Amino acid sequence: MTSLVGKDILASDQLTVDELELILATAKQFDIISQAGGTLDLMRNMILATLFYEPSTRTRLSFESAILRLGGQVLSVAEAKSSSSAAKGETLYDTGKMIEGYAHAAVIRHPVVGSAQELADGASIPVINGGDGAGQHPSQALLDLYTIQKEKGRLNDLTVTLVGDLRYGRTVHSLAPLLRHFGTQFNFVSPSELAMPVAITDKMRAQGSAINETDDLAPVVPQTDVLYVTRIQKERFADPAQYEALKGAYIVNNALLQQAKPDLTIMHPLPRVDEIAKEVDAFEGAAYFRQAANGVLVRMALLALITGKI
Ligand code: NCD
Repeated sequence: MTSLVGKDILASDQLTVDELELILATAKQFDIISQAGGTLDLMRNMILATLFYEPSTRTRLSFESAILRLGGQVLSVAEAKSSSSAAKGETLYDTGKMIEGYAHAAVIRHPVVGSAQELADGASIPVINGGDGAGQHPSQALLDLYTIQKEKGRLNDLTVTLVGDLRYGRTVHSLAPLLRHFGTQFNFVSPSELAMPVAITDKMRAQGSAINETDDLAPVVPQTDVLYVTRIQKERFADPAQYEALKGAYIVNNALLQQAKPDLTIMHPLPRVDEIAKEVDAFEGAAYFRQAANGVLVRMALLALITGKI
């Protein structure tokens, strides 16, 4: 029995280094097995419920692919906002109480920060936060960590530059606190209006992280090992004019990469809008589609571990 059995996965900083290493090692085992053409039956007769109150392609499909590849089954409420009892005013707490009778684990995505916690408060089954507004997205951060390890061959001794919408982008809120464990040197690059929340930077600095905050991307590219690009989160802006003023703030293209290390790794949680030019896809270190594929393996590991099947 590992410490992850029965746990809700709501925020990345709840995970210990031992737990992180266990998740990464399990995902790697699954990677080796699936590359060898093997199949896994660890979650036969188990059901995952996916409740998505906000758009998703990768997160929902990769969780669904993960449970199917483990021999389990999936119950899915897509467009949960309009088609589920939420439209009738049911609270997430009550939905949690109900869902435990239908499934062995649940994944929720919702526009409100704290929503996954509310579902988890009601449900006795493990709940994974698949993105709560501008809050957290821990399973994305785990697959990002797995991708960095796979692409670079290590997690320590890296300079990681996070660029774009660090205010509303939940993937970076989850990733930065995980990387902190490995002594990462950080560059946080954003317009000042979209800076990383002070609550996160203060905590990380107090824990000893080296963080350089700037609005200028080009000068930090040459020292960067991993460039993690994010989309400006249009749907989180109260004022559309502010979005219009800030969109297109950073474009990663071949000209910018002229100054980069030859072994630079470029990541993006996707979807991209215009922050990475298509010409960059041909760059060897452009890892964003490999990163998306890694999502299935990491989510398989997470599901098998929280349900105690491995
Ligand atoms: C991210 C999200 O939903 O936060 N997408 C994802 O899960 N891969 C990033 C984004 O939408 O910009």
